[in-house]
Amino acid sequence: MSNYIIEGGRKLEGELKVSGSKNASLPIIAACILNGKKNTLYNVPNIVDTNKTLEILKILGCNIKKNNNKIIIDSSNIKTHEIPDKLMRELRSSVILAGALISRFKNAVFSYPGGCDIGSRPIDLHLSGFKKLGIEIEEEGGYIRCKAENIVGTDITLDFPSVGATENIMLASVFAEGETLIKNAALEPEIVDLQNILNKMGAKVEGAGTNIIKITGVKRLKEVSYNIMPDRIEAGTLLCMVAATGGNVKLKGVVPEHIYQVIYKLEECGCKVECQKDLIMLQSPKKLKAVDIKTMPYPGFPTDMQSVFGAMLTIAKGTSLVIENIFESRFKYTNELKRMGAKITIEGKSAVIKGVKKLTGAEVEASDLRGGAALVLAGLVAKGETKVENIEYLLRGYENLDKKLNSIGAKIIG
Ligand code: UD1
Repeated sequence: MSNYIIEGGRKLEGELKVSGSKNASLPIIAACILNGKKNTLYNVPNIVDTNKTLEILKILGCNIKKNNNKIIIDSSNIKTHEIPDKLMRELRSSVILAGALISRFKNAVFSYPGGCDIGSRPIDLHLSGFKKLGIEIEEEGGYIRCKAENIVGTDITLDFPSVGATENIMLASVFAEGETLIKNAALEPEIVDLQNILNKMGAKVEGAGTNIIKITGVKRLKEVSYNIMPDRIEAGTLLCMVAATGGNVKLKGVVPEHIYQVIYKLEECGCKVECQKDLIMLQSPKKLKAVDIKTMPYPGFPTDMQSVFGAMLTIAKGTSLVIENIFESRFKYTNELKRMGAKITIEGKSAVIKGVKKLTGAEVEASDLRGGAALVLAGLVAKGETKVENIEYLLRGYENLDKKLNSIGAKIIG
């Protein structure tokens, strides 16, 4: 297990460039299975989750070439449609490969996915969507076997706008006969990015970013080069970290409208935020003010920002109420923050955060990706030294977080 040692109390000031989006990269890497061609992806973040997904593709038979954030995926020689259980367990988004494999080979074998422990993460919506497309599903010995003679377009209404289920059904229906309509689809920007690459390959997908997505089946897809969108959660994380230290930052390579909910809340806390096309400039106030937040599917406040924002509120003036509506176990980080002096009470879906004057450095342990980032934020503002253990979780989703923060005045030893 690795750790970060953080010397707290330093103001962060400077310019940073945001990396490519983790959550867009994963379904887009899966999409590269579909066409059986050589695809070039740019702006892929070099993080554990993308690397593990690429490792699975290699095992399936893809040829992968990596050059920093440029990845070439040649899927012409895939030999198997079975995803090894060991790798399935290592990341949640591995389930997204199933839709692409079924689409291309009419066959896929996989087991229940793993990932961060932030609550129960069922895949029933993915599987019921597959069934509606005419895919037979058998569960045996921990494996899920999907098979179809023909995949036939149909109307699928999701009980909940699940991001993963929306993406998986899009991938599974690209070659379906006729039209597929996904109703109550998730609206996240990463789904628009997936639509864009699919259409660049020659698929016919429309409506991503709205709650009805229409996929008209095509016969084949061509090779593609694609530049992945910036990571809106990384952008929000960096803004909160800077705001918590009383600093200022110019974030480059972002799409401000993807995180306007976070920007709006930062302004409510007293930050001055100015946005241009692909720039966000933030200046923090002398003292942050408490605000209430409630996580919701996009365009609501993102659950992935809840822990980092919550950590920032521990030193705001006043009492904040944070309500987590998406994942039930996303408050684990608060126990660690309490060791640093934070005053937080949890009841069910709610956290009441009473702002304190200061946090003090301590040894704390990350237990999921975004919760880990919350602890880093706390370490940056705390008096003295903080040791964040299990930073493996952070490496799943943040590219060079320590280097980026050190470049604007932090002191983190990794
Ligand atoms: C994606 C993101 C994750 C983010 C989440 C919500 C990726 C790789 N991960 O995860 O960072 O936190 O969206 O914005 O893009 N659900 C079901 N049945 C299902 C699927 C989901 O009940 O079959 C429930 C989940 O338990 C959860 C809610 O739906 O309560 C949202 O999950 P979902 O949108 O599917 O999240 P992911 O795609 O796993």
